[in-house]
Amino acid sequence: MDQVARVILALEASEVAEEVMHVLDRSGRARVVATAGDDRQLAEAVRQLEPDVVVAEPGLLSGARACSVVLAIDVRESVSSLRTAIRAGAAGYFLWPKERDELLVAAAAAVRRAQQTARRGAVVAVHGGRGGVGVTFVATHLAAAFARRGSAILIDADPVFGDVAHVLGAPAGEEAEPTHTFADAAALGEDLGPEQLRSALWRHESEVDVLLPPPPEEAIRLGPEDLQLVTEAAAGAADAVIVHLPRALGAMTRVGAETSDSLVEVLTLDVVSFRATSRALEACAPLHLEGRVSFVVNKAARSEITSGDVHRVFGEPARAILPHDRAVRSAQERNRLLPSRGRMARRFDRLADTLSAPVVEEMAS
Ligand SMILES: Nc1ncnc2c1ncn2[C@@H]1O[C@H](COP(=O)(O)OP(=O)(O)O)[C@@H](O)[C@H]1O
Ligand SMILES: [Mg+2]
Repeated sequence: MDQVARVILALEASEVAEEVMHVLDRSGRARVVATAGDDRQLAEAVRQLEPDVVVAEPGLLSGARACSVVLAIDVRESVSSLRTAIRAGAAGYFLWPKERDELLVAAAAAVRRAQQTARRGAVVAVHGGRGGVGVTFVATHLAAAFARRGSAILIDADPVFGDVAHVLGAPAGEEAEPTHTFADAAALGEDLGPEQLRSALWRHESEVDVLLPPPPEEAIRLGPEDLQLVTEAAAGAADAVIVHLPRALGAMTRVGAETSDSLVEVLTLDVVSFRATSRALEACAPLHLEGRVSFVVNKAARSEITSGDVHRVFGEPARAILPHDRAVRSAQERNRLLPSRGRMARRFDRLADTLSAPVVEEMAS
């Protein structure tokens, strides 16, 4: 794919440099954007060109400090050259020409890593322990709120039913051609990066970018590893990724919850919904989601159970309380979202604000 690593090459011996350059350029996975013959030239080139990777002999690596990924090569293996490479923080050490394939793989991996760490949007998964509490409503409107603050990608982790695409009036079947789907993106495997994912999205009028589900007979083959792949790529492509989870706590839901920075549990103010939420959380205990779960009360109306009970039962106040509003159903029936400036939208804006800072800091390490 177009993930070609931009490389600066630094070697004293120009014949070797030429050989390495030739091999890197011909591989299609790396492109040499400059060469340097000493550490000063190297430092200057790194500053000006901001390469993805520096490939250099150990003695010149001191010039590559400003580059995040540094690979050392040498024509002869020696303890001192290896030691110099390690001290300079090289991510790999390769003998030339014997280990040239390994060098190519390392250079290509570096560019992928650089793209992924450069930007990571907040991943928010939305789940409900009981059917009908409003998971689809919350996921779509929360995505719209994130799109208003920046960019948002919405992924339906229940692609067989494809409720998200349906309520947003997305093209389906014949009319969906030539739009790409979740299955097309996942089929790219290792080659799926933020750019490839971006080109597979369908844009809703709310500016939410949606990864459309494939037809049901294909959707049923999608598994948790596919979800993980597209979610990671999406996180590199937008400020926020909203993952609409299936109700059942199968592998898809568990992986969706685990991969997210925050998990929104949607519940309504009734005993059945509270009980379902408790059971879902108990079932997810092995996933260690502590500190990542937020509760959102939907369809709130006068009832014996109050939103204060959320705090009492789950040890945390509800992040948002969304009123019961008849406009929700009629909007849904017309494949529309509620207006972006209305009362409900403002609640979603506030919810998005509280969720946008990733809750778990250790994810960064
Ligand atoms: N805040 C709300 N007020 C009124 N009706 C709502 C509200 N949220 C959802 N609904 C309605 O409840 C039904 C179920 O919502 P949906 O989002 O499809 O739930 P889920 O995805 O959890 O099954 C839909 O008919 C929807 O229009
Ligand atoms: Mg739903």
